[in-house]
Formats: sequence, structure tokens, C-alpha cells
Amino acid sequence: MEKSIDKLGFGIIGCGRIAPKHAESITAIPDAELVAVCDIIPEKAEEFARLYNAEPYLDYKELLQRDDIDIVTIATPSGNHAEIGIAAAKAGKHVMVEKPMSMTLKEADSLIKACQENNVKLSVIHQNRYNKSIKTLRTAMESGRFGKLTHGQATVRWNRNDEYYTQAPWRGTKLQDGGVLMNQSIHNIDLLQWMMGPVESVYGYTTTALRPIEMEDVAGAVIRFKNGAIGLIEAATTIYPKNIEETLNIFGATGSVIIGGIAVNRVETWEFEDSEEEKKQIFASQENDPPTVYGFGHREIIEDMIKAVKSNTSPPLNGEEGRKALEIILAIYKSQETGLPVKLPMLDDFAG
Ligand SMILES: NC(=O)c1ccc[n+]([C@@H]2O[C@H](COP(=O)([O-])OP(=O)(O)OC[C@H]3O[C@@H](n4cnc5c(N)ncnc54)[C@H](O)[C@@H]3O)[C@@H](O)[C@H]2O)c1
Repeated sequence: MEKSIDKLGFGIIGCGRIAPKHAESITAIPDAELVAVCDIIPEKAEEFARLYNAEPYLDYKELLQRDDIDIVTIATPSGNHAEIGIAAAKAGKHVMVEKPMSMTLKEADSLIKACQENNVKLSVIHQNRYNKSIKTLRTAMESGRFGKLTHGQATVRWNRNDEYYTQAPWRGTKLQDGGVLMNQSIHNIDLLQWMMGPVESVYGYTTTALRPIEMEDVAGAVIRFKNGAIGLIEAATTIYPKNIEETLNIFGATGSVIIGGIAVNRVETWEFEDSEEEKKQIFASQENDPPTVYGFGHREIIEDMIKAVKSNTSPPLNGEEGRKALEIILAIYKSQETGLPVKLPMLDDFAG
């Protein structure tokens, strides 16, 4: 099928659980067109292609040869994001990669470099930055309304049962997925650092408490931010019997905000001086809980990538931004292994 010239062509690599979020967003955006999809499992590629009216591929290298693809979305297991992203950059395609962008800093840096060298854009999917609640918080933060930041906390209390982990062999593995920090909590850790600023050091513990996996299903960590504030991370996929919350707490001398819901989507506390009217408005116009923890943000992050490509600017969630949460998580893994706090930037690449 022919792509119209005013539209940017998309290819999706990996047709699993998260891929429909991308496909639905791309097909709803007027200046985007999904032209091809790829999965190593033929039935998945064919069924997905049929659903979204695209061409199926079994080998991503063949998909990358198409001239009508401008942007490639990588939604495969996390361990091969960097390899596929680098191949896409070398083929001259702009890259949107699902989180985590890679499993190591070395791979993340290679991906960032490949995109720079081939003059293509790179965007990492942290769609929760686009939640209405988070955008409101970010505006308050940028306006300095918190005063001196004192502390913040990122909590993920979710349930991923044994069936979730055994549905695909890559889940919970060291090389392909990581545990609750790298897979589920990375979005909230990204938000915590986005609000609180650069990290000085990290200390943490991880454990595999209940699930049949190689990596952690429960973790706790403490962060010292460069501005002196403290950060706390609590992450678990062991919560009985179902998801309770993904919550971000930010506290400063003149502000307290708690954003909860199942996926940081509801403002629960909003306290600033003279904020009664604003608070009423915020509470009256809350987003409902999304149908899944994936939320509503994929469309906007894709739209921002399209704008970046068209205007030759950097997408807001570029490779350097996506790397920040990855580094914090790898520092927690290193701290668990060494029993010591880990200073950032990490000089060696600790792969977990
Ligand atoms: N942004 C989010 O909120 C969010 C949510 C879920 C998953 N994710 C991320 O998306 C990625 C995929 O997760 P998922 O839950 O959809 O996994 P999944 O196992 O459901 O799907 C992955 C698909 O990739 C295919 N695949 C594997 N290797 C491939 C290759 N070399 N070429 C083409 N296809 C290949 C598999 O056959 C499978 O169909 C992971 O990195 C995960 O962390 C992000």
C-alpha cells in the first residue's frame, strides 16, 4: 500500500502486549501512518498487520529497508532494544524505543551515539510524563512553588502473578528484562528524578520474595539528590491480591503534592499557599483511572516525536533523558551487590 507523502511512516517492531498502544496512537494521529510491523512469531506479525492494515515482517532488518518508514518503534523484549535501535539508526530511521532503552549504560550510550552519528532522533517511552496530573505538578515545580525541595518518594505497589512472569521466557531475567525496578518502576523513578533533579548517590536493597524470577520482585532504595533532598523508592510486584497504587510524593518548604491512582494519574494532595481555589479545580477535573497501567500518554509522546522530526529539534524525552532512570536503577542493582552506596555518574557499567 502507498503511504501519502505528507505523513510520516511508522514501523513497529515487536507485536506483543504494549504494541497496540503504539498502533492505536499512530493510526489516530493525522500526520502518521503505520506502514509495517514485525514480530519473530509469524502469527503475531500477521494478526497485528491485519488488525492495523500494515505489512507484516518476520525480520526487522527487512522492515528497515523500506523507504516509506521514517520512524521505527521498538517494542521487543528490553534486552534487544539497543541492537535494534542501532540498526534502525544506521538505516536512517528515527527511533522510538520502549522503556528501558537498554539494559546497560554502555548499550544506552551506543544507541544515543548511533542516533547522533546518523542524524536521526531518539525518543524513549516514558508516557507517564504526559499524565494530566504530572503535567500540573511539573508546571508547579518549574514555577518554583515548592521552595527548597526536602524529599520525594516513588511507590509502585502492583501485582504481577506467576502467570505474568511465565507467559514469556524473557520476563524477570537479568539480560532481557530486569525485575520490578527495571520493568515496572522505571516510569515512577523517571518522574521522581525529573521533579527532584540530578542524583548524587543511591543506596538500595533488592530481593526476590515470591515470584519465580531471576531478578527482584521487591526493592527499596534511598537517593541523595545533588540539591541535598532525599528520595525514597519502594517497588513491588508482590502486592496481594491486585494492583494498589503507583504514587509520587513531592515535598518542599512551601508545597506538598501526592499523585496516586493506579498509575500516577490522580492528584491526592495539593498544598501550596493560597491554593484552595486551584485545588478545587484540580480535584474537579481529574482524569479517571486508565483502563490499564499503561495510561493515556503514548499518543502525545509520539506526537512530540513527529514534531521533533518535522522541525529538526530534539524530542522532549530524548536518549539522554531516558538514560537517567536507567542509571539510577543500575546503581541500585550495584548497591545491592556491593552493600555500598553508589555515586553517580557511574564510572563502570553495572549490568545488574
Ligand atoms: N511504556 C510502558 O508502559 C510499557 C508497558 C509494557 C511493556 N513495555 C516495554 O515494551 C517492551 C515489550 O513488552 P511487552 O509486554 O509488549 O512484551 P511481549 O513479550 O508481550 O511482546 C514482545 C514481542 O516482541 C517479539 N520479539 C522478540 N524479539 C523480536 C525481534 N528480534 N524482532 C521482532 N519481534 C521480536 C516477541 O515475539 C513478542 O511478540 C519491553 O521493553 C517492555 O519493558 C512498556
